[in-house]
Amino acid sequence: MTEIPSLADQLDARLRRALEVALPAGADGVEPQLRRSEHADFQANGSFALARRLGTNPRELAAAVVAACPPDDLLAAREVSGPGFINLTLRDGAIIRQLARRAEHPRLGVPLGDSRLTVVEYSQPNIAKEMHVGHLRTTVIGDALARILAFLGAQVVRQNHLGDWGTQFGMLIQYLDEHPEAGWHGTQQGVAALNGLYRSARELFDQDPAFADRARARVVTLQAGDPYTVSRWREIVEESMRYFRTIYDQLGVLLTDDDAVGESFYNPVLEQVAEELEQKGVAVRSEGALCVFFDDVRGPEGQQVPLIVRKRDGGFGYAATDLAAIRYRTATLGAERLLYVVDARQALHLRMVFETARRAGWIPPSVEVQHVAFGTVLGSDGRPFKTRSGDNVPLATLFEDAIAKARATIVEKDGHQKAGDVEILAREVGIGAVKYADLATSRTKDYVFDLDRMVSLSGNTGVYLQYAHARVRSVLRRLAEMDGAGDLPDDVSLESSERALALLLDDFSRVVIDVGETLEPHRLCTYLYSLSQAFTDFYESCPVLRAESSDIRAVRRLLCSLTADTLQRGLDLLGIAAPDRL
Ligand code: ARG
Repeated sequence: MTEIPSLADQLDARLRRALEVALPAGADGVEPQLRRSEHADFQANGSFALARRLGTNPRELAAAVVAACPPDDLLAAREVSGPGFINLTLRDGAIIRQLARRAEHPRLGVPLGDSRLTVVEYSQPNIAKEMHVGHLRTTVIGDALARILAFLGAQVVRQNHLGDWGTQFGMLIQYLDEHPEAGWHGTQQGVAALNGLYRSARELFDQDPAFADRARARVVTLQAGDPYTVSRWREIVEESMRYFRTIYDQLGVLLTDDDAVGESFYNPVLEQVAEELEQKGVAVRSEGALCVFFDDVRGPEGQQVPLIVRKRDGGFGYAATDLAAIRYRTATLGAERLLYVVDARQALHLRMVFETARRAGWIPPSVEVQHVAFGTVLGSDGRPFKTRSGDNVPLATLFEDAIAKARATIVEKDGHQKAGDVEILAREVGIGAVKYADLATSRTKDYVFDLDRMVSLSGNTGVYLQYAHARVRSVLRRLAEMDGAGDLPDDVSLESSERALALLLDDFSRVVIDVGETLEPHRLCTYLYSLSQAFTDFYESCPVLRAESSDIRAVRRLLCSLTADTLQRGLDLLGIAAPDRL
C-alpha cells in the first residue's frame, strides 16, 4: 500500500507549484518552510530568503504566491501576513478525510524508506558478568532503533557483540579449577556468583605471581583450543547466556540467541586480519606490536597513539576483534549500513577502528558507518550510577524495584484490579517506565536514574503514555457499546482542540522518518507525549460519548481511534507495552 503524504507535505507541494507560477524564472531551491502557527493551520516562511535573493519586497512576493494558489478542496483560505509570511488554513473536511485514510492504512500512512541492509550492534554484555545500567542504555536504544529502522523498510540484522573472549577467561578458568568448592554452576545466581569469583581471581592474580603465571598459561591453552579448557569456557558462556535471556525476556527486546555473535567468533580470523592489514600497509610494526597510526590521534606529549592490532606478545585484543567484525559484516553479511550503539566514552576507539577499516577497504565508500553514542546513567549524586559500595547495580535489582513501584502506582490508582492483572500490568508499567526514561532523554546526554520520577503518573513518562493510551481505549470501548456507528459526515467543522490533535496525528510519519534519520528515539517520545497532551485537551473540551450529534460523534470517534493506534504503534516502536486497560 502506498504511503500517505501528510497535509503539510501536500501544502508544501502546492506552494512550490504556486511559486513556480508566480516566479517562472527564479524559484528553484526555495523551501516554503511550513510550520504550525497560532494564526492559521500553517505558516509559510520561504519568501524572505527568496525575496532577498531576488531583491524584491517579501510582501509582494507573498501576494503573488497567494494569487497563484487559489482555494481548493484542501485549502480553505490563505493570506499574506506580517512582513511576508503566508498563512494557510485547511478545510476541515480535508483534515478529517486525511485522518480517515491514515486510520485505514496498516502502517498509519508511514512510507517505506531506506531499505539498506543495516547491521545494528547493541547490548554487547560481557560473559561471566552481570549486566548493569550501561548495558541497559545500549540494549534499550539499540532495540528501539532496530524496530524503527525495520518499520521504515530497512533489512535489519541485529548483532549482539558479546564480550566472550579475552585473557580474563584464562584467569577465571584457572581460578575455578583451583577452587572446585566454589559453586556457581546451575545455581539461580550463577552469573552473580561468577561475577564474584572473577573478582577473587583478579585479586589473586594481582597478589600471587605464581597464580598469575598459571593464569597466563591457561589463556594460552584456551586460545590454542585445548578441549578441556574450551569446554569449561563454554559452560561459563552458556550460564551467562541463560542469564542474558532472562534479562532480555524481562525487557521485552527482540534479541535472540541467533543474534549473539560474540568476540570469540572472530578468533579464528584474527591472524588473517592482521596479515591483511600489514600487507596493505595499513598497519606497521612498532616496538614489536602491530599498530595503526593516525595523524590526529595524539597523546599529551604530542606523540601518536596507535590502535594496537596485535600486542607485542602476539595476543589480539578488543581492536582486532572489532576490525574482524567489520570485515565480516560488510563482506559476509553484505551490510550497507553499520550502526554501533555503544557508550560515548568509546568514541575514540571506534573512530580509530572505523578509519583503519576504511583504509583497508573493509568499509567501502558506499557503506555508511556510525557510532550511535549514548551518555552515562548517573546516580542522584551526579556520578556514574553505582551501589553504595561502588559496585555496578545489577539490572535484575533495578527491574524488581521498578516493578514494585509500578505495582504501588497501579494499586493506588485503581485498587479493585484483580491480582493476576496487577502482576502483568506492574511488569509492563515498571519495565516500560525504565525503558521510556532511557529513551526519552536525548541520546548523547547523561541522565540521572530516578525511579520515582520514572514511574510518576505525570510528566513525560512511560506510565503517563500508557495511561493515556488505556484511557482512549476505554473511551473507544464505551463508544462501541453505543448504537449507531455513524459514517463520517461530508461537512464537518472542527473545534480548535480537535484541529490541534488532528494535525499532530497527521505528523506521525514525519516524526518516525526523522527518528530513522537522526537515530534519536527521544524525538518519538516527545511526539507521543505531545500527542497525549493534545488528546487530554481535546477530551476535556469536546464531549465524545455525549457529543451533540452523531456526525460530531463520528468525527470524534475517528480522532480517538487514530490517537489510540498512533500511541500504540509509537510505544511498540520504542519496545514498550501498551496495555488496553490500566
Ligand atoms: N562489551 C563491551 C562493554 O561492555 C562493549 C562492546 C562495544 N562494541 C564494540 N564493537 N566494541 O563495554
